Amino acid sequence: MRVAFAQTHPIFGEKQRNLEAALALCRGEPAGLYVLPELFATGYQFRSEDEVASLAESASGPTIRRLRDFCRMGGCFMVAGLVEGEGGSFYNSAALVGPTGLVHVYRKAHLFSNEKRWFRPGDSGFGVHEIALPGPGGARLRLGVMICFDWVFPEAARTLALGGAQCIAHPSNLVLPFGQRGMWTRSVENRVFTITANRVGSEDRTDEPPLLFTGGSQIVAPDGRVLASATADAACARSVDIDPAMADDKHPVAGNDLFRDRRPDLYRL
Ligand code: ACM
Repeated sequence: MRVAFAQTHPIFGEKQRNLEAALALCRGEPAGLYVLPELFATGYQFRSEDEVASLAESASGPTIRRLRDFCRMGGCFMVAGLVEGEGGSFYNSAALVGPTGLVHVYRKAHLFSNEKRWFRPGDSGFGVHEIALPGPGGARLRLGVMICFDWVFPEAARTLALGGAQCIAHPSNLVLPFGQRGMWTRSVENRVFTITANRVGSEDRTDEPPLLFTGGSQIVAPDGRVLASATADAACARSVDIDPAMADDKHPVAGNDLFRDRRPDLYRL
């Protein structure tokens, strides 16, 4: 399966522009699965709950519908971050959409810093979804989703990997300088593909220190090879062919199986 990230440079609040810019990047890089950044259409640094509310949509709102149309036309899947509003609550979510519509909405479990002011902690858990490209013999991939700061909690990626994920889609707005290296570790310790789609640019909308987003989107293989990567400062899309079955082999060396060699009997406090 050909998989891709789109590394975008959103302008805060300009949803339509940001959405079309992201889709233009995807159009230039044909793939079966695209990962877009966290909150890719809205921007990240909110000033008030009213602002969050004004940018929020449900997973059946116009942004996700536009992605769904793109996926229907292109016979592809997409994972993309959104401000999800539901019943007066807001979540930092990522929707998985495909040619037949919405497949799943993941709500970020581990909120970062000021996100706790705006969003409720996610309640969706870490589900794994088998996606299949249309057509006879279409490639299949078991996919899990986590968002940005989830990377620092190894339980997130581990839960997805133990649940059978061959690939983890990781929409991000990374600001710390070591998130990409952290995700490299999540790949090799679980022997899964990871696709981190980060954004570039900065936001300086509040009295808080400005946020500089670190780019460096990447696709990492289960054996630690970085199959595709982006610079720290330019919008771009990159894609690569992966063989999902590679992630079913949990042997980093002949004598070790990463799952069977775990010692849960010793992991209790
Ligand atoms: C982050 O979780 N957006 C750093």
